[in-house]
Amino acid sequence: MQRIQNCLSRCTNTEQQTLLTTACRAALAAGRLVKERYEQPHDITMKGAIDLVTETDVAAEAIISASLSNDTPDIMIMAEETISSHSLETDRYWVVDPLDGTTNFAHGFPYFAVSIALLDHGRPLVGAIYAPLLDELFCAAKGSGSWLNDRTITVTKTRRLIEALIGTGFPYEIEHTLQGVIRQLEIMLPNVRDIRRAGAAALDLAYVSCGRLDGFYEINLHPWDTAAGWLLVEEAGGLVSVFSGGPYSTCLPEIVASNGTLHRQLVTLLE
Ligand code: IPD
Ligand code: CA
Ligand code: CA
Repeated sequence: MQRIQNCLSRCTNTEQQTLLTTACRAALAAGRLVKERYEQPHDITMKGAIDLVTETDVAAEAIISASLSNDTPDIMIMAEETISSHSLETDRYWVVDPLDGTTNFAHGFPYFAVSIALLDHGRPLVGAIYAPLLDELFCAAKGSGSWLNDRTITVTKTRRLIEALIGTGFPYEIEHTLQGVIRQLEIMLPNVRDIRRAGAAALDLAYVSCGRLDGFYEINLHPWDTAAGWLLVEEAGGLVSVFSGGPYSTCLPEIVASNGTLHRQLVTLLE
């Protein structure tokens, strides 16, 4: 709990302090379970041809939902594995990805995280992303900055795209999007230092916020993939938009995030 206290000490708004504590507590509890189950055999169900869900996605979501409902009973929850919660007609709600990077988790590839954000009128107010294997808790509160465990984080200062490490991902519905994804790679690869497809979009955004990546782009993500990472990047000094450079919203099917300095260059390539 000490690291949550460290984050809270920089956040002056008491409502945000309470909400951030709630988000962090739920993320840490779910992350503990995800870590425990990582090396055990998994019970896998297919949601689509390549889109899978494990028993741990469902169990982690149950822990998060119980924790959030206990702390903030009046706030509704949009959670990935609870299909009935995917469209909520309310101004303020939690957005939960209980396990971002399920394919990695199921294959024993150690890059995945829990992601929780509070959306208020479509904008994230607080967010927490917890990567349990490295015990890294990323969190942010609107107007108060972004943190990784007990330190403040900022985006990189990289100015030239050719010196930039850029993250991306491939949508599950790849048969419909393949041409566009390949075209983006063709344009991007000769202009950047390298590209990473690590397999967890929320964590990719957290990595932009702490300077491990200079930028990130992907199509067809969902609110639970991006809401917390969006806030982390902006509060760490970066920019988030759609490919045209216009304002991002979790309802829109594309996202580009960067250290800010590189944003125009990335948008020019993606447009
Ligand atoms: C997926 C991961 C992946 C991204 C996919 C997401 P999940 O989330 O973030 O990196 O490319 O588009 O759906 O299914 O592991 O929670
Ligand atoms: Ca996800
Ligand atoms: Ca997930």
